[in-house]
Amino acid sequence: MNKPEVVAKIFQGRAFVPSLEGAEAFAPINIALCKYWGKRNTAINLPAASSLSVSLPSKGTRTYIKVIETAEDKIFLNGQSLDASLDFSKKLTDFLNLFRYEARGFEVHTESNIPISAGLASSASGFAALVLALDKLYNWRLSRSQLSILSRLGSGSACRSLWTGFVEWQAGQDAEGMDSHGVPLTDTWPDLCLGLLVFAEAQKAISSRVAMQHTVATSPFYKTWPSVAAADLATLKQAIALKDFEQLGFVSEANAMAMHALMLSARPSVLYARPETVSTQHAIWAARNQGLSLYFTQDAGYNLKLLFLEPQRAEIEALFPHCETVKPFVK
Ligand code: PMV
Repeated sequence: MNKPEVVAKIFQGRAFVPSLEGAEAFAPINIALCKYWGKRNTAINLPAASSLSVSLPSKGTRTYIKVIETAEDKIFLNGQSLDASLDFSKKLTDFLNLFRYEARGFEVHTESNIPISAGLASSASGFAALVLALDKLYNWRLSRSQLSILSRLGSGSACRSLWTGFVEWQAGQDAEGMDSHGVPLTDTWPDLCLGLLVFAEAQKAISSRVAMQHTVATSPFYKTWPSVAAADLATLKQAIALKDFEQLGFVSEANAMAMHALMLSARPSVLYARPETVSTQHAIWAARNQGLSLYFTQDAGYNLKLLFLEPQRAEIEALFPHCETVKPFVK
């Protein structure tokens, strides 16, 4: 199965006729508490294990798309026209090839209020917003699960950005991946805070896609990951249901560190942490030893995301003045 075959299966021969005005949509970034790390099928982004995230509705990507007369795509990022040879443009054009109307180009405007490729899940919100905009452009009226499958073809973690709140990406068992998409949890947690600690907005040197493949191919410990992730996912869902913050924070942090430990054990190692990442991790542990209820998670980048509850917010913002607090369940 390849990407065009997944698309053909979803559309079952339906024709694509775009609206002339173009269409716009927004999707949030999502931060994984139980990480997606490794694929069982690299062609259509099927994960080795299920994962769980929380979306940040105030952070993400707004995308406007329309069909144009020329064959070449015109791609804009935060108001700037991008050259077709850039990675960002190539990824977008490759994905749009799945949905072209009469071999014509698209004009795509992407506005993002988060740094791109800095380990802040910008590609997740980007592909989710693009798929939502395409759904409007072509008036497909697909279900959220079908849109989640389509966005997964762009970037795996994008399939969790179709919803706000907690979202589980169920790995599924179907060889064609029709059961591998996001499923929102009904639980809310108004007191939950995520603190974004951005040390640098520079692009990471190695993409999550490459690091993931390299880890699966060379880490002697990768085979332990699916069972670690399955156990963490179950504990996290229980912590969410019981509003047990210590359990949520402890397992989220442990799961992120286990993912980074796998990367360290790859040959050669992949190390996203920078000195500021590590010194902040130590500062978090020191604060916790003093009784502060504070945990972190880290994605494929050197920035950290803090996890805490509203009653601790003032103390944590005083300790980490650069922390930008986002409340996933408060509009
Ligand atoms: O969807 P990708 O290929 O960008 O991979 C995302 C990987 C992590 O952000 C590190 C983990 C996750 O589950 O979001």
